[in-house]
Amino acid sequence: MSNSLSSELLTGIAHKYGTPVYIYDTEKISSQYHSLTNEFSDQSVRFFYACKALTNISILKHIHALGASFDCSSINEVKLARYAGIPAEKILYTSNSIAFSEIEEAQKEGVHINIDSLSNLEKFGKKFGNSYPVGIRLRPNIMAGGNINISTGHAKSKFGIPIEKIDEVIDLVEQYNLNIAVLHVHTGSEISDVGLYMKGVHVLLDLAQKFPTVHTLDLGGGFKVPYEEGDTRTDIHLLAEEIRNAFDLAKQNTGREYKIWFEPGKYMVSECGYFVVSVTVLKETAATTFAGVDSGFNHLIRPMFYGSYHHIENLSNPGDEKKKYSVVGNICETDTFAWEREIAEIREGDLLVFRNAGAYGMEMASNFNSRFKPAEVMVKDGKPQLIRKRDTLEDLLKNQVI
Ligand code: LLP
Repeated sequence: MSNSLSSELLTGIAHKYGTPVYIYDTEKISSQYHSLTNEFSDQSVRFFYACKALTNISILKHIHALGASFDCSSINEVKLARYAGIPAEKILYTSNSIAFSEIEEAQKEGVHINIDSLSNLEKFGKKFGNSYPVGIRLRPNIMAGGNINISTGHAKSKFGIPIEKIDEVIDLVEQYNLNIAVLHVHTGSEISDVGLYMKGVHVLLDLAQKFPTVHTLDLGGGFKVPYEEGDTRTDIHLLAEEIRNAFDLAKQNTGREYKIWFEPGKYMVSECGYFVVSVTVLKETAATTFAGVDSGFNHLIRPMFYGSYHHIENLSNPGDEKKKYSVVGNICETDTFAWEREIAEIREGDLLVFRNAGAYGMEMASNFNSRFKPAEVMVKDGKPQLIRKRDTLEDLLKNQVI
């Protein structure tokens, strides 16, 4: 895989700030964003970065400076985005299974809101009537995405209002004179098949006809990026073309035009991220040679939680002969990052780097086993800057009432 940050730079950062450390290349984030905006430059499209992927304030500020908007999945993400200086108009709160009080808070903040249940829609109607435009998240009953754990639009998914309930939605809209501005779907993460993505788009285009006030169709996120050699990436050029055709046709047939929103998470920040760890222990066994590292699923849970592949390289000994290693963490439970993976010969003390660590890496980290969360470093204009300090014992104790 091509390196955009050099091994020397990653090694230097690891030596300066210690390991484990997350490192983000802001240039890569910029180029990902621009590749989206370029492909959609002739359409009325806004990109709301799904900040659940990575919420470090410095990263939010960088993405804000690019001109992006922000999709949030909790009221705290909304508050972090506001803290980062992002205006309310550029923030969208797409909630699921939340207490109505969070929606009230979001309304007070003045951000866009997508509601994903009939009960919250009714509460919203009772409290706000048509005074505040609102979006509805629908569940299109489409299976899409890398695997079942990251699929959200299928018929057993908790997300969104199932489309078979559309008459109940319309009843509520009429009863409370709701101003439905946006219809939303997000069918899953890592959707490489543009045809499948378009299925969700067509569901929205059909249903939008039932909502005269709708001016925007929010198509969610879910663009795939490659994680391993030979892996696919969503063809954004083709997607832009298909979307252009579908919306043109809808305009011809219905006379209606819509603005388009997207909510990319992984596409924006997966490839910008490098997670560097140190090898603490080598252990040869009959089954495999373990390379134990100073991290675990407390820092990068994707391999254990979703069976995700993260490419691993030996930064300290890159040219040496490849051998098979099982890379494991130091957590007091099974935590295997990779089983029997070919990696250039590993010695204790070597630095290993995990690729594609920007999205849902640090963001899903915890303090399990009372370990510290890693430091985060951002590389901007070629210069590394610390954007989050490693935890200390005080962090583990700070909320305990002793
Ligand atoms: N919009 C909504 C409403 C979402 O729920 C999500 C992700 C996104 C946008 C962004 O999706 P993306 O472009 O990143 O695929 N932790 C999992 C991914 C879970 C995605 C949850 N929702 C992983 O590490 O694979």
